[in-house]
Amino acid sequence: TPPERIRNFCIIAHIDHGKSTLADRMLQYTGVVADREMRAQYLDRMDIERERGITVKSQAVRIPWELNGDTFALNMIDTPGHVDFSYEVSRSLAACEGAVLLVDAAQGIEAQTLANLYLALENDLTIIPVLNKIDLPAADPERFAKELADLIGGSPDDVLRVSGKTGAGVEDLLDRIVSDIPAPVGDPDAPARAMIFDSVYDAYRGVVTYVRMIDGSLAPRQRVQMMSTRAQHELLEIGVSSPEPHPSNGLGVGEVGYLITGVKDVRQSKVGDTVTDHRKPAETALTGYVEPKPMVYSGLYPIDASDYTSLREALDKLKLSDAALVYEPETSVALGFGFRCGFLGLLHLEIITERLSREFDLDLITTAPSVVYTVRSENGEEIVVTNPSEYPEGKIEQVTEPIVKASVLLPKDYVGTVMELCQSRRGSLLGMDYLSENRVELKYTMPLGEIVFDFFDQLKSRTQGYASFDYEPAGSEAADLVKVDILLQGDRVDAFSAIVHRDNAYAYGTTMTERLRKLIPRQQFEVPIQAAIGARIIARENIRAIRKDVLAKCYGGDISRKRKLLEKQKEGKKRMKMVGRVEVPQNAFIAALSGD
Ligand code: GTP
Repeated sequence: TPPERIRNFCIIAHIDHGKSTLADRMLQYTGVVADREMRAQYLDRMDIERERGITVKSQAVRIPWELNGDTFALNMIDTPGHVDFSYEVSRSLAACEGAVLLVDAAQGIEAQTLANLYLALENDLTIIPVLNKIDLPAADPERFAKELADLIGGSPDDVLRVSGKTGAGVEDLLDRIVSDIPAPVGDPDAPARAMIFDSVYDAYRGVVTYVRMIDGSLAPRQRVQMMSTRAQHELLEIGVSSPEPHPSNGLGVGEVGYLITGVKDVRQSKVGDTVTDHRKPAETALTGYVEPKPMVYSGLYPIDASDYTSLREALDKLKLSDAALVYEPETSVALGFGFRCGFLGLLHLEIITERLSREFDLDLITTAPSVVYTVRSENGEEIVVTNPSEYPEGKIEQVTEPIVKASVLLPKDYVGTVMELCQSRRGSLLGMDYLSENRVELKYTMPLGEIVFDFFDQLKSRTQGYASFDYEPAGSEAADLVKVDILLQGDRVDAFSAIVHRDNAYAYGTTMTERLRKLIPRQQFEVPIQAAIGARIIARENIRAIRKDVLAKCYGGDISRKRKLLEKQKEGKKRMKMVGRVEVPQNAFIAALSGD
């Protein structure tokens, strides 16, 4: 297809504003998917995505559309909607010339609408504003068309009104995509440059890499090179998805399609990288490539120690399809053998742990998420701490923590309670904007460490679910942080160490010591539970001693009954962990960590 007949676009929307439903309708109206094959959310392939109604992995689909007698190839690139994957969103956007900005006509603009819109504007995309779900009785298109027009400029009359459910307005939207979005431009004679915007592991075909051709062309059997790693591969197959794969004899300027090179690991074909011709390589890579960088770390431990090998195998498998997942073995006094894993954010963490339990049938305990701290000791040595138990001993000169710029959108009645929440999480207010009479955007800078600690749940419950929230990394800052250790009879229990702000250290210490006192059974001797910063004790609880005499109940009678009891007691001991001399059932640790 010549570039002037190509239109590359994506749909950007807040979660639940109906992106997948609209995409399905487009596939149906253009005849790409026959009506009888149509199933809800054709493009969301992962089960977990469908169940949770979130889109994690982007896909590209080529759809034909006719306008004024000419047939155009529209490439629809599906983008993930969540902040954790904002790098993937930005690469998907970079593969397009235009974006459909989809807003629920009963909800209006939300936090991810704004975050995605800003990313689209940074990539110079043409924006087509669209209100969706106009079939809803609660839809208020007049009001929200004005809100949208105020936001992006232009008149409320230019805002399209559609319903992904009934199909109303979808054909007009397809026409607008052809007439408003510019055709791609590139140099067909230059050395090939294709940008990778997605890389998906497929058990049968290996890694399927989705690319947008910028310059030149690529053909089957050609040798290609990945510009970031210089690794070479042969193109075994190249083609377009519509949405099933259709092999072709090549991709030219402006086209969007997939490549298969036989690599088995998405790390060999990374999002953001540039693919070029090995024999006639391009001189400079396309801009925008960054290594995925974990922002949140957590320890994953099998509840049943014999699952350790299965856990390792499961992680190895997940890694094939997830370039951002990192892990290394870790041991803990309290929890045994497990892995320290790095994630892009909390949702990413949740997705991985859920897949481990669902697809691999593993029962896991996850330690409290921690962000990445840089700790400088007095001797000037700097170390990066992703696990509080690795926090250096001795005098610390400075600790820095990651900071984010957060944006909260909410009805104005909740401004007070949300400001209070943000303040309590060490946020500092950057600004407050009225998007309309009733809707406000609050902008804060906040430590990421405060957000990973149930901020989202708090926000939802304080606003009855009416607030939406998004953030982007904004560097790091020094803060008065300390490590609090929890000691059982003087021995540190590693899984409970936490890095917290000095003002919150006492609260953390008392909560944890109290929780453990209630959970740990009495021993033959008194056991102090303490919280400490370095050598200084900040909180203390005691478990009183008992002499646990299981035979006392038996009145010296039946000998076989005595034996049974002794055996039972032995059995129970198997799942005990020793911390110094103290015996603790593993369940107590698990309960204390999960807070119930
Ligand atoms: P993410 O993939 O999580 O970003 O969600 P999404 O934006 O793709 O939303 P999805 O298409 O899954 O739709 C969210 C909900 O809105 C679903 O319950 C849909 O059935 C419903 N929905 C989508 N479009 C319409 C519409 O035009 N009218 C009505 N009434 N409901 C709709």
